[in-house]
Amino acid sequence: MEIIHSPGQMTAWANRARQSGKTIAMVPTMGAFHEGHLALMRMGRSRADLTVTSIFVNPIQFGPGEDFDKYPRDLKRDGGMAATAGVDVLFAPSPAEMYPTGFQTTVSVTGLTDTLCGRSRPGHFDGVTTVVAKLFNIVKPNLAIFGRKDFQQLAVISKMVRDLNWDVEIVGHPIVREADGLAMSSRNAYLSEAERQSALALSKSMQQARQRVQAGETSAGQLIEETKKFLQGHPGVAIDYVSIVDRLTLLDQTDINRDSVLLVAARVGTTRLIDNTVLFDEQ
Ligand code: PAF
Repeated sequence: MEIIHSPGQMTAWANRARQSGKTIAMVPTMGAFHEGHLALMRMGRSRADLTVTSIFVNPIQFGPGEDFDKYPRDLKRDGGMAATAGVDVLFAPSPAEMYPTGFQTTVSVTGLTDTLCGRSRPGHFDGVTTVVAKLFNIVKPNLAIFGRKDFQQLAVISKMVRDLNWDVEIVGHPIVREADGLAMSSRNAYLSEAERQSALALSKSMQQARQRVQAGETSAGQLIEETKKFLQGHPGVAIDYVSIVDRLTLLDQTDINRDSVLLVAARVGTTRLIDNTVLFDEQ
């Protein structure tokens, strides 16, 4: 596996790969790899000739007081893991190379970013779309893979690509969970043992909601109230939002249907966690 730091060298590599007829899958990440990231990389390998994973803790998607400074960074460990997953290139640029002095451009998707996490984290998605746009231009992937745990992020990036006629296929990978149901996240590393137990309430609330829908519940309002009550019953869990939305528009729903997704964001201690589930099994 090759490690490339310079955007110019990364683009030169991508141009050579494309000129020789190879397809490129990209897995954009902020590092601190876990099994969920490795699953995305393995999917990349199965879908394209070459796989590039980027590691960049993107300063412009963190708000004031968020965890930018403490976000785990360990290139050596991550590099070893990416190599075992069969990644061809690890692209790890520096903030100064990504945002040189005088950088003045923002890529912004409106509407979809006003709700859910966008409401609690103003400016976050502009940071995400700006860096992903840059990464796509540098790496020139044929397809890019994102985890469905960040459901809104996947919807926003898909919309950016459609709106800007980008010739990149956006692929969502199912959420990868720990054996006890906790959705894998680099931020789980912040949780104490007691907080980790409380955090299980999120995935349990998803399972419970799916069971209620299977049993015939069709009211989004009722299911949201029940999910909130369940989460409030777990000490240390502070709800940010519980919403049921249409999976494409992210608009709130009143009646549950095959396009309904339940999304939850909550703080456990100081750690902000998210989870989501479709409410009907996918066909
Ligand atoms: O999901 C992430 O890790 C980040 O938001 C991403 C897509 C790599 C952009 O920095």
